[in-house]
Amino acid sequence: MPSVNSFRMGPDREGRFGKFGGRFVAETLMPLILSLEEEYESAKNDPAFRQEMDYFLKHYVGRPSPLYFAERLTEYVRSKTGSTIGGEKEKGAKIYLKRDELNHTGAHKINNCLGQILLAKRMGKTRIIAETGAGQHGVATATVCARFNLPCTIFMGATDVERQEPNVFRMKLLGAEVVPVTSGTGTLKDAMNEALRDWVTNVDATFYIIGTAAGPHPYPEMVRDFQSVIGYEAKEQMLEAEGRLPDAIMACIGGGSNAIGLFHPFLDDMGTQIYGVEAAGRGVESGAHAASLSGGRPGVLHGNRTYLLQDDDGQIIDAHSISAGLDYPGIGPEHAWLHEVKRVQYLSATDKEALECFQLCARLEGIIPALEPAHALARAFDKAGEMERDQILLLNMCGRGDKDIFSVMDALK
Ligand SMILES: Cc1ncc(COP(=O)(O)O)c(C=O)c1O
Repeated sequence: MPSVNSFRMGPDREGRFGKFGGRFVAETLMPLILSLEEEYESAKNDPAFRQEMDYFLKHYVGRPSPLYFAERLTEYVRSKTGSTIGGEKEKGAKIYLKRDELNHTGAHKINNCLGQILLAKRMGKTRIIAETGAGQHGVATATVCARFNLPCTIFMGATDVERQEPNVFRMKLLGAEVVPVTSGTGTLKDAMNEALRDWVTNVDATFYIIGTAAGPHPYPEMVRDFQSVIGYEAKEQMLEAEGRLPDAIMACIGGGSNAIGLFHPFLDDMGTQIYGVEAAGRGVESGAHAASLSGGRPGVLHGNRTYLLQDDDGQIIDAHSISAGLDYPGIGPEHAWLHEVKRVQYLSATDKEALECFQLCARLEGIIPALEPAHALARAFDKAGEMERDQILLLNMCGRGDKDIFSVMDALK
């Protein structure tokens, strides 16, 4: 590992994490991006902004989300792994879940939407746009727009509109306009392209609520900060429950917002191993996957430099994952940096593994996970199985599976 004073220091003034990040945007957007950065800096240091945020996180979102000892998942791992010493299996860490699926609207996405809508209000914006993949970010955006009385347009790939039907209905119910995007594969990348196009043409009145820790600076930093509530709470709750920090933490990665939210407060705790789990789709070697770090290389997309799935000419390759929320050919720039400096290890899980874990978690814990964290569960079982019994692994249960039941039903047919 290179000598880095603190893994929590970035980004620099240009929004770079090492050679990743930055702001590659159309000239028309530049003044807006700069004023957003300025406003965010001032909001961060304004106690009134913090107070309002805390109020809504507690009373509207329902934070803090519980930290839960998943006893039956732990028993499952212990029953499967390890050698036998005196009749007892020696391996198998305790598995804890950070229950962000219990947030209002069913995922971590609302933590960030709340921060950004308060910023939009502060900047006097009168219209909100957003992109969405699984529909969770779209629902969270539509929710805060209803609460703060701002009209909202959500761009969603046409393929995702089909596979996430319940969330499309939810967004409409909440008063949002949902625009299906038919270009490309009709997934998250295409939705984000369309949202950026809209933003360039409606710069003055519109605030773009980006749903993951990607996009041009200051979004990756801003989204990370709003999601870090996950990691700060988890640290405090873990100290209370076990008197020490976990030996390993793990989260799934689409663009990387729930993961960086959990990871960031732990980055300088070197006793804690950190794992991100990308979507391996039908297998990284098959080419049909969304694992940008395992199967991609650096390039520029959606305003930042990061690892991307691309062909020899630098054209973006379509991603594939059974989970709409992970179906993105890139990853947030801070993850690209954490990968290169080797502070975080990035693993992957296939569609098939996620489907198995989706069902297993439902049956063993009575918790139906979203397909996204079901990917992380697959690797959590392996890792916990290699760890000692007195060790602890914490996984971010970043969303619930209600939105996925129809597509899982189809896949299981
Ligand atoms: C429940 C859930 N988890 C994870 C993700 C992936 O996003 P991110 O990597 O930004 O956390 C999504 C995206 O829609 C989601 O809905």
